Amino acid sequence: MSIRLPRGTQDILPGQVEKWQLIEEKARELCANFQYSEIRTPIFEHTELFLRSVGDTTDIVQKEMYEFKDRGDRSLTLRPEGTAAVVRSFVEHKMYGDANQPVKLYYMGPMFRYERPQAGRYRQFVQFGVEAIGSADPAIDAEVIALAMSLYGSLGLKKLKLIINSLGDKESRNAHRQALVDHFKPRIGEFCSDCQNRLEKNPMRILDCKQDHDHELMKNAPSILDYLNTNSKIYFNKVQQYLTNLNIPFEVDSNLVRGLDYYNHTAFEIMSDAEGFGAITTLCGGGRYNGLTEEIGGPEAPGIGFAMSIERFIAALDAENIELPIKNEIDCYLVSLGEEAKDYTVGLLHKLRLAGFSAERDYLDRKIKAQFKAADRSNAKYVAVLGEDELKANKINLKSMATGEQMEIELETFIDKLAELI
Ligand code: HAM
Repeated sequence: MSIRLPRGTQDILPGQVEKWQLIEEKARELCANFQYSEIRTPIFEHTELFLRSVGDTTDIVQKEMYEFKDRGDRSLTLRPEGTAAVVRSFVEHKMYGDANQPVKLYYMGPMFRYERPQAGRYRQFVQFGVEAIGSADPAIDAEVIALAMSLYGSLGLKKLKLIINSLGDKESRNAHRQALVDHFKPRIGEFCSDCQNRLEKNPMRILDCKQDHDHELMKNAPSILDYLNTNSKIYFNKVQQYLTNLNIPFEVDSNLVRGLDYYNHTAFEIMSDAEGFGAITTLCGGGRYNGLTEEIGGPEAPGIGFAMSIERFIAALDAENIELPIKNEIDCYLVSLGEEAKDYTVGLLHKLRLAGFSAERDYLDRKIKAQFKAADRSNAKYVAVLGEDELKANKINLKSMATGEQMEIELETFIDKLAELI
């Protein structure tokens, strides 16, 4: 029996991986412009970290974690998301003491959730995310959203919808929470057992329930926006004002509840509304998480961030029929004829590569015609032909594949000549 890859994972093969590399490169470039530095945290963390941050009533913690005991009987979990680890690291390394505040970080790497796999939903997926920790200025909320939108825009995505909401501060949330309990309690028996558990622990999670989504009580559930206190309203208005200043269109949707518990104030999602995009349209999600550093044992440091998966980014590009500008060409292919010339190209190829050229030669002892075909397949800009006669005369024949022009060059000056041409 042959072994296949685990459900919900994928191999990213040459031909596809170039898209990933381009997105990653763009993300890094943009992060440099926006002044976010890369952070790399472990793939697994103590399970406790996610219980405390993502929240023990969320689907992620209750149903989706890859949790295991190591040989020392510690409970560890493959990270389902990046924020918890970044905030843990921020606290652990006392970054709150750094001179530069807020601390602005980005990360890229695999995350793991035991979800039901379908188009756009994997069990291992790669997130690019940013976190700005140490400022409660609504301008940084706008900056974070602008970064995500700019990244999508830089690769040509147009059919995007930004949805924002405010979950308010603690006081607003408590008032909303009470209203939700009053609303759902009399008929909670009609809801799933998860929701029944959520009622007292975290009634907002009921709004995010996939099972009871269509229950009539969902439609007229109390809206958080009606419970925002003055400070929360002022904050939310500022965020909207800044987005407008940045010419970033958005919609306010009071039903936007995120799937993780650490949020307050700004919450947002970016969706694709391209035709033909699958059922899962959320490309990116994020929001503010004031209070999370304290939850993880650090001092107060308000934060905000987002994460997006590269898988869904690529799906959105495909849905909009966007071809990424990916070059798959090489500078020079060495074609050789005869044993001595073949031997010579081993060293010559190495010299070319060390001089900074992308270069290739034949390793299958192919006839000259097949070597030319291989050169074609690798989109070589130049093909250099070395036969026994050329070698004796210390010459090499160089052909430009774009113009068909051929020239005979002294072997000693070959690399310099190629540098001139390319
Ligand atoms: P999230 O909404 O759980 O938020 O995930 C963010 C993004 O990760 C989603 O919008 C989607 O692009 C991608 N994603 C999530 N699950 C999957 C999956 N199974 N397959 C493919 N892509 C997926 C967070 O993770 C928060 N940590 C975001 C954040 C950062 N909030 C503040 N800072």
